[in-house]
Amino acid sequence: MDLQELDNLLSETRENAEKAIAEADTVDALRSAEGRITKGPLADALKNIKSFDAKERGAAGQAINKAKNEVKQLFAKAQETLKQADLEGERRKSANFDPTLPPPLTRRGSLHPVTIVQREIERLFRGLGFAVVGGPEMETEFYNFEALNIPAMHPARDSQDTFWLTNGWLLRTHTSPCQIRAMQRFGPPIRVIAPGRCFRYEALDASHENTFFQLEGLLIDKDISIAHLIAYMKLLLRQVFRRDVKVRLRPGFFPFVEPGFELDMSCAICDGAGCATCKRSGWVEILPCGMVHPNVLRYGGIDPHEYTGFAFGLGLTRLAMMKFGVADIRILNSGDLRGIVHADRLRGERIA
Ligand code: DAH
Repeated sequence: MDLQELDNLLSETRENAEKAIAEADTVDALRSAEGRITKGPLADALKNIKSFDAKERGAAGQAINKAKNEVKQLFAKAQETLKQADLEGERRKSANFDPTLPPPLTRRGSLHPVTIVQREIERLFRGLGFAVVGGPEMETEFYNFEALNIPAMHPARDSQDTFWLTNGWLLRTHTSPCQIRAMQRFGPPIRVIAPGRCFRYEALDASHENTFFQLEGLLIDKDISIAHLIAYMKLLLRQVFRRDVKVRLRPGFFPFVEPGFELDMSCAICDGAGCATCKRSGWVEILPCGMVHPNVLRYGGIDPHEYTGFAFGLGLTRLAMMKFGVADIRILNSGDLRGIVHADRLRGERIA
């Protein structure tokens, strides 16, 4: 190669570099073009420096190095310009952001049917001067049974198939232990409701779940009678169903009340005609209740000669089923919304 040829090669290389720079639109593209050009023809020219006349070798080497530096500088400048443009683009993008625009639409969910009914009852009772309390889901035998007048070996224990824990405690089978805890905590007079999750070792079917919700109520004061109990229960059902509900009162046995009642309502799933949910009877047991047994008052540290009271243990899950037309209790522990027959009613009940 002679100097003239080298000169041609170098200016061609410079032109190639300029072309590559004009085409590259990212920093990465620039880098790879730079590699291609400096490592390609320029490196080859340096390697072949021996093919020049000994006299011309010095000038050739200088020319190659000069061209290499020029090309490097061209690329460095181009990189800087591109980075600057990127930054400006970002800035322009954020200048276009309008914080006053409404956000993209999101689908709003709704509350669980049990939560809706629970909140409704809580609102009613708060307005009547009741406190809303809770209690542990893991209970002791004392609170779940003994203090509720259900001693060991009592047949009533059999009707509440229990999940026993290895430490001798249990998963509460009802919310009634909250009665004892409230008596011990507050002393008389007492007005509390206690909604909560309960557990029973049940065979599952359309009306039995191993996990369900109850809402316990307790009112203790001087001169409380069955008339108070019935008035409150009617108020409760009217609030939930927004109409007078057909009910019937039967004597019912619960060791912690005397007298005890079963308050049934006409099945809202079949309108009393008989279906799987009401076991073909047309009635659903929904509100067992009664006058607090003197033994229970004593366990709670209250003198039964001075105070009386009533208690109820509302089947919250069952009530939600009646209100929203859910025919199978298992649907309520699943994520399947298709089982909620009166979904339009549910939508109307949505609480923001
Ligand atoms: N704890 C009872 C159960 O789960 C229901 C119950 C009945 C609660 C009568 C009460 C009551 O407070 O007075 O079967």
